Amino acid sequence: MAELIVSLDTDDRKSAENLIEKLGTLVEYYKIGPIPLLAFGTQFIEYLSKTGKKVFLDLKFFDIPNTVEMAVYNSCKLNISMLTVHILGGKKMLKAAISGRNKSDSNTKIIGVTILTSFSQEEIEEAGMQGEIDSNILRLADIAFETGLDGIVCSAKELRFLRKKFPQSFLMVCPGIRPDGTSCDDQKRTSTVGQAIKDGADFLVVGRPIIESNNPGEVVRQIKKEIMENEYGKST
Ligand code: C5P
Repeated sequence: MAELIVSLDTDDRKSAENLIEKLGTLVEYYKIGPIPLLAFGTQFIEYLSKTGKKVFLDLKFFDIPNTVEMAVYNSCKLNISMLTVHILGGKKMLKAAISGRNKSDSNTKIIGVTILTSFSQEEIEEAGMQGEIDSNILRLADIAFETGLDGIVCSAKELRFLRKKFPQSFLMVCPGIRPDGTSCDDQKRTSTVGQAIKDGADFLVVGRPIIESNNPGEVVRQIKKEIMENEYGKST
């Protein structure tokens, strides 16, 4: 069954802790990106682990191979479940990331970012990339798979063609989920919970629709209900 990851994009530690407490056993996975990491430090990851939560460290490493290898090694020492690297960093960098994980003796999953869900075709062209967004994503996913990464971050909109090509064990992590189906804020390639599940997402990453809600528990319950309904729908 697909899992919900709540993205803790806040620099207010009290509100982060209140949210985690309020959501209790409803949520197992939390995503820690640069905002909470810089505001609270790595002790926050230890705090999450101690409270029984799983951590997805989303720092999207993109650097020379040596730097990425050591960054991944030290991240894995923090006892995290998953972390991200940019596939655009190239095969040597991706192999260095895997080597860093292996040296740390952990089984942290390394997930490659294809193209940010905040990108549209216009931004792809602006960045000087050739061709359609989908063909760029497919090429990056191929590189991640061939290099031996555990999965990719993509928008749920791309799952239809990605799922056809890669085995079930290759994880697909989808941000840009908007529970009510409306596109908003800075995300461009958005999808609903139901569509993402039907098309084969393994993890749904949801931040602002939960953390900015007056009733985050209710939003999470609704998302989990939709995950369940659509998982059952898939097999019938
Ligand atoms: O608030 P929202 O639900 O848009 O949060 C999505 C989270 O997923 C953000 O923390 C963002 O950094 C992250 N993310 C993303 N697109 C990617 C990779 C990560 O939106 N391709």
